[in-house]
Amino acid sequence: MTWSPDSWRRCQALQQPEYPDPAQLDRVLAELRQLPPLVTSWEVVRLREQLAEAAAGRRFVLQAGDCAERFAYCSSDRITNTLKVLLQMSLVLVVGAQRPVVRIGRFAGQYAKPRSADAETRNGLTLPSFRGDNVNRTEFTAAARTPDPELLLRGYERAALTLNFVRALVKGGFADLHHPEYFDLDWVQHSPLADEYHHMVETIGDSLRFMEHVLGVRAGETDLIDFFTAHEALHLASEEAQTRTVPRRDGWFNLTAHFPWVGLRTNDPQGAHIEYLRGIENPVGLKVGSGVTRERVAQWIERLDPRRSPGRLTLIHRFGAARIADELPKLIEHVRAAGGRVLWVCDPMHGNTLTTAAGVKTRRFADIQSEVEQAFDIHRGLGQQLGGVHIELTGEDVTECLGGARGQNEEDLARAYESEVDPRLNYEQSLELAFLIARKMKADGH
Ligand code: PEP
Ligand code: CO
Repeated sequence: MTWSPDSWRRCQALQQPEYPDPAQLDRVLAELRQLPPLVTSWEVVRLREQLAEAAAGRRFVLQAGDCAERFAYCSSDRITNTLKVLLQMSLVLVVGAQRPVVRIGRFAGQYAKPRSADAETRNGLTLPSFRGDNVNRTEFTAAARTPDPELLLRGYERAALTLNFVRALVKGGFADLHHPEYFDLDWVQHSPLADEYHHMVETIGDSLRFMEHVLGVRAGETDLIDFFTAHEALHLASEEAQTRTVPRRDGWFNLTAHFPWVGLRTNDPQGAHIEYLRGIENPVGLKVGSGVTRERVAQWIERLDPRRSPGRLTLIHRFGAARIADELPKLIEHVRAAGGRVLWVCDPMHGNTLTTAAGVKTRRFADIQSEVEQAFDIHRGLGQQLGGVHIELTGEDVTECLGGARGQNEEDLARAYESEVDPRLNYEQSLELAFLIARKMKADGH
């Protein structure tokens, strides 16, 4: 079957909203096609090169952000806080990895969510599930939950506003790499590792200078402070509308994000999402969970990376702390059998979701830490390297995950739980995780 931006329409497309008025959707898509792109092909190509370097062990990837970005997060404070936590985590990781860190935000377009159930029932009333701000609204009324195509335009505009501010902050020196004194480190005193953490902060400057030396650039120059964008390429009609050719380059680019990924629920090698991703030039991510067969892995690699070109395909594994030891070695073996040359990234969030006795969706910090540390060990034990991590977090002071230095417990979850979907690490927990990952990398001599 020949690929085209709409060839996915010939395959089964899971998780797509059902719009009551298809003509209205078509009008919106026509408008989207006319709007300018959010990212450029040369940025996309640069990320692909950087991911190839990460696959070769010369960079480390931090991909992080909200589970579901909300339109309301398009504000000065929110965007600044997100950039701050990502930047600070990346500086801590530089200390551990002793190599440049590629920062990819789950932002500027992470507005569509897959759901396990199409519908939700409350007090006898059944309505469509909330599928992200790009699709419908959270209030539990029929009007709010009916998919509204106009939201795709609102989402595109919000993504553009977000990215505009990100680019301005980065360019304006927000990301000045020499200021670990701007870290909020109150929480550190609650950790038994406080001294070690303070020491790491002190060495950030040294690590950055080392990196500058290695790269031959000065901190503060734009190459060092790039932020790339990523979202789940879920809503295929809107992804198709912004899939373009550009002058003087071959192929088709998705110009809404540098790094689109396909989620676990839509990763069938024969399905529409893989069909869409296989034809674009962007580097692409694939979420992988437990129980995949050798045939399936071979099909993914054949479809998404037939030329086995480093940087093209990132496998983001998300097994859970209890299963990774059984599952990851098998996945690695299947990839090797297929001759795959992939970048390995660990998502320690999505296999570790649990529901408390009170019915609250949460994750334990200890499970998240454990899964990442096991991932480092397993890859190393098999003679390769973990190339990055994929984290759900926010720069805000939410209480959605258990544990961390302050020992957040089940009662605390009620204080500031705001996620409509998955529980995220807060600012302090995110930074703490970065310290622990850096510590692990250092101990392993990465
Ligand atoms: C996500 O990244 O928010 C998500 C839904 O992950 P997965 O597809 O791995 O379940
Ligand atoms: Co999620």
